[in-house]
Formats: sequence, C-alpha cells, structure tokens
Amino acid sequence: MDGAQAQLIARAQADIEARTGAQRGLLRFITCGSVDDGKSTLIGRLLYDSKLILDDHLAALERDSRRHGTTGEDLDLALLVDGLEAERQQGITIDVAYRFFTTNRRSFIVADTPGHEQYTRNMATGASNADLAVILIDARKGLLTQTKRHSYICSLLGVRHVVLAVNKIDLVGYDQAVFDQIISDYTAFAKDLGFASVTPIPLSARHGDNVTWRSEHTPWYEGPTLVGHLETIDVVSDAAAKPFRFPVQWVNRPNLDFRGVSGTVVSGTIRPGDRVTVAESGRETTVSRIVTYDGDLAEAVAGDAVTLTLADEVDIARGDLLAPPTARPVVADQFAAHVIWMGDEPLLPGRPYLMRIGTRYVPVKVTALKHRIDVDTLEHLAGRTLALNEIGVCNLSSSSAVAFDPYAENRETGAFILIDRYTNATVGAGMIDFGLHRAANIHRQALLVSRVERERLNGHMPAVLWFTGLTGSGKSTIANLVERALHDRGVRTFLLDGDNVRHGLNRDLGFSDAERVENIRRVGEVAKLFVEAGTIVLCSFISPFRAERRMVRELFEGGEFVEVFVDTPIEDCIKRDPKGLYAKALDGQIANFTGVSSPYEAPEHAEIVLETKSLSPEAAAARIVAELEASGRI
Ligand code: ADX
Repeated sequence: MDGAQAQLIARAQADIEARTGAQRGLLRFITCGSVDDGKSTLIGRLLYDSKLILDDHLAALERDSRRHGTTGEDLDLALLVDGLEAERQQGITIDVAYRFFTTNRRSFIVADTPGHEQYTRNMATGASNADLAVILIDARKGLLTQTKRHSYICSLLGVRHVVLAVNKIDLVGYDQAVFDQIISDYTAFAKDLGFASVTPIPLSARHGDNVTWRSEHTPWYEGPTLVGHLETIDVVSDAAAKPFRFPVQWVNRPNLDFRGVSGTVVSGTIRPGDRVTVAESGRETTVSRIVTYDGDLAEAVAGDAVTLTLADEVDIARGDLLAPPTARPVVADQFAAHVIWMGDEPLLPGRPYLMRIGTRYVPVKVTALKHRIDVDTLEHLAGRTLALNEIGVCNLSSSSAVAFDPYAENRETGAFILIDRYTNATVGAGMIDFGLHRAANIHRQALLVSRVERERLNGHMPAVLWFTGLTGSGKSTIANLVERALHDRGVRTFLLDGDNVRHGLNRDLGFSDAERVENIRRVGEVAKLFVEAGTIVLCSFISPFRAERRMVRELFEGGEFVEVFVDTPIEDCIKRDPKGLYAKALDGQIANFTGVSSPYEAPEHAEIVLETKSLSPEAAAARIVAELEASGRI
C-alpha cells in the first residue's frame, strides 16, 4: 500500500469512527473471485444492505438496472460497483479499490481487486493488510484454479481467516450436496495453508440469501450469515503487541535546534525514555519526545505517524529501521523469500532489481530460484525463471545489509517489493522467510599490497574496456588490435572473450536470457579481479541486456569502466557471418540467436561508439587507445 492509499484509509477510518462511535474494531477484508463469480454483486449487496449508498447513486442504479440490467426488475447490484469503478478509472489508475461500510456492530474496509490479468499483483496488494478473505466460489463450477491461487496468495500474505462464499446457491436449487462437496474439496486443498479459520457459507449475492438475512431456502445450513460472521469474528490486531518497529521516512531538521526522525510506527509501542537501536548500524540511543502536529504524545502505537526526537546525535537516515535493543530485527544481506512475480518480463536470477523494504530502497539480485510453486497442487517445480503470476522461493542478495523480520513474525517488516530499474514498474512482491547466515562468517581479508602500489609498479591505471555488440560486429577483432597496441607499449592487459570463456569458466551456460545474465555476472566479477590486479581488461561479449551491462558498470569506480559499443547493422553482420552462425540461425537451426530470435538492447550511454560501417578496425582501435591516453589511464 502506498502513502496515498494509507492516508485514504486513515481518513475513512476516522470518518467511520466519528459516525459510529465505539464499537467492535475495524475489520479489513479482501474479496477474491472473478467478475463472473458475482464479486461485484456481492460487494454491491453489502454496500446496499448497509444503506451506505448515497441516494443519488441509488436513483441512478434503479434507472440503469432497468436499462442495462441483467436481473429483470431487481436492482442490479453489480452495476453499482461497476459504476463506482468507472469513476475510479477517471483518476489515476489505482489497482485496488478500498470501499468502506458500516453496520451497527462494526466498520469494514473491503479491498476490491479487479479480476483482470493483473490480478495477482492487485490481490497481493489487497491481501497484504487484510485480516480476512472472502473467497467466492460459483456453486455451479466448484473449486477452480483461481480459487486455489487466491487461497494460496492469501495464506502467503498472512491472511488468517477465510470465508468460503459459495455463491449462486439459488442456481443449484439450494442443494446441500453441492455445498458439502465444495467444502470437502476445499478442506482437502487448504489443509496445509495454515488458516486459523475457514467458514463456508451458502449464499446468493443477487437475492441476498445468507448475506445479511438468513435464507429460508437453506434450512439445512446452521452457520452464520456473511454479515453476521464478519461482524463477530475475532481478529484482534496484534500489531501493537509485537516488538516496536519504526522505518525512518525522513530526518526532519527544520532548524539547528530541532532534529527528529519521522515515520509511522508499523508495530509495537514506544514511549519517551525507551531505548532504541538503529538496526543496520547497531547504534543505540533514547527517545526523548514523541512529537506530532497536535502536540507531544506519552505513547505512540502501531499506525501512528509521529516524529521522534532522540537523546544523542546518532547517525540515522531515511530507510533505517528503529527497534528496541532487546528485540532486534534480523540484519542480513542474504535471505530466502517467497516471491510473487508480476512483471511481464520474467524474473531472471542474477539480474539486479531495486528492492523496497519499509522505507528503504536497495539493489538486490536473486541468487538462486530454489523452486516454483504449482498453485493447484502446492507442489514444488524446478525452474530457472518466474513468469507473470508465478510464485517461487528464492535466495536473494542485497548490495548492503538490510533489517527485516521474517514475514510470518511481522507482515510490515517482512514484506518487500521488487522494482524494475529501467521502467520503475513493480515486478514482484516478496515475503521474507529467513535470513541466510552463509555470508555472515565470511569477512573481507585486508591485503598487504595496495592498489596504488600495483599502479606504481605497472606505470598505468587499470580499466575495463567492455565491448558490446552483435556477434559478427567486429568486437573481438577490434579488442585484439587494442590489446596488441597496449601490450606493445608495456601496458599489462588481458582479453576475456565470450567464445573462450564459454569453453571454461562458463562451460555450463547456454543462451537463454537467464544464462546470459549469469554469463555476464561471472565475467563482471572476473573483470573486477583483473582490475584489482592492476590490469587493463578487455571484455568482448555480446552482453545484449542493458541491465547486466549496468550491473557490471556499477562494480567499478568512476572512469574505470569504459563501455565500447561496436555498432554494426545486423544486415552487415549477416553478410559477414564469420562463423556461419547467422546462416544456421536464420535457417532455424540455432535457438535464441541474438539479433534473430533473441533481443539486443543497444547501449544508450556508451563511452565510445564505433560505427564500423565507416571506420576500419585499425582506426577503431586507435581511437580507443587515444581515449585511454586522453583520460590519463595510460
Ligand atoms: S552473451 O549474450 O552471453 O554475452 P557471449 O558473448 O558470451 O554471449 O557469446 C556469444 C558467442 O557465442 C557468439 O559470438 C557466437 O559465436 C556464439 N553463439 C552460439 N550460440 C549463440 C546464440 N544463440 N546467440 C548468440 N551467440 C551464440
């Protein structure tokens, strides 16, 4: 949930509380099901029965039902929700609509997630702060893949209570046998999902049976009505009982006399005088004051947005997590997590993504996809990537240590999202299972010979010349000429070439996207070792993806990494075809061939662009050597 949504909910919550006064706590729930299952009708029914529909809405609804309705003389409640949807769509697209209603006994926030193709993403958003899920089943159809998927995602996201809403019970003649069969199918499926309660209810959203009033058509059913159950189920939030967690949103320093850290308490309680630790650095201090716009507080609890002033000037920044010294979160740079993939492009192990965890953004890579999960059977499947809507268990590694709790212990500090670094789109949602301590006991060993001493001995600075371009573009020819020229001047060099490295170090890798990512990751690490050794390392790899070239670039310091784009039109590469591979690829004999059946993303900001149409290999090589001289590296 983003800030705007959080504010929206907070405001609505305040509204509801103002209107209804003290009553049983708020219940947040999510409805899962596709449009055909009657989800819109059910939400419409809940809103209608709770009389919260504004009168002008009602008039319009009666009119529209007569015009477009599929329900004869009855009100078409689905039109109500779809009408609200249309309003919503005029603004910025919100993936999840939160609707509010209230009865005499309780207030509710329903997360309504549209059932279109992005549903996994929307569902995950809606479920991440729901106490309960209403999972709709069409009585005529029984359990579907969707039902299982929805249930699994709910369990993954920590939803504890499920209502199995067996809808359209009227269309199966209110038949108890149909209802019982669905219950037994669902019980068998959900036994390992760990829900605290599963409550099946036979209902008809359209006619209202067992929604707010007990239906005389189901005398065999003795359980509660849907609203009755929602009003009474006990889901006391335990966020306040958990250890204190405060992700720092910003350090607030309006003048020299005031310095506070602002954010929202996501779990636990804090009072002035309490000791707190900055989890990532381990520095400790004491909370002096809890400042809000309306004055100081004696206590802040989960959900409160506050500014804390601290007794000491400890180092603290946006993204840090404050916690009690006696109940610290895990701090690690490697961890295992369940990931729900929402990207159109598949998840590629080795590719850098941006992780947002709490208020912190940090680059991460999936180091291993341990398995995918078949949501139908909950079986583990082997796989090298995750496609849209797939769920898997991964090991991840972040570029610096992050503070978190396992998701099972704290939904607020154990969840993260993955962002594509080029499109800024959210491509994954993750739930951390545990930190991996593998790297915990491996420290860096200090070396006695320094980088500067190596440079002095060599008489030049190290660098990476990264040649990228299509196969047959002339990368290796030019790289070879450059190496010859540098060597002849007494420069220490080494040339790493795709074809050669793939005979040894990377013998196990093919040409799928995932394997190319790993190919470049390993070569980047090897190039880094050569640079540490003081060498000018020439790397000649197609390296077709921008993301991995950027990842390699980020391993080096400013000026060390020189990207050389060998820009040869594909037609010319095909004409040259030095290894006869294009002919084979065009004939369909080689799969995933770059430029033919696999993409090449041309660099946008290469330091050197060589247009080989108008530049001989010798001239191209001379230009590179000249650039190295000009930059003072040799
Ligand atoms: S990269 O995409 O992972 O960077 P790399 O540069 O290591 O590729 O290897 C490319 C070389 O492998 C090509 O020059 C070509 O000789 C050979 N090759 C074999 N199959 C393919 C393929 N499907 N696509 C591209 N190159 C291939």
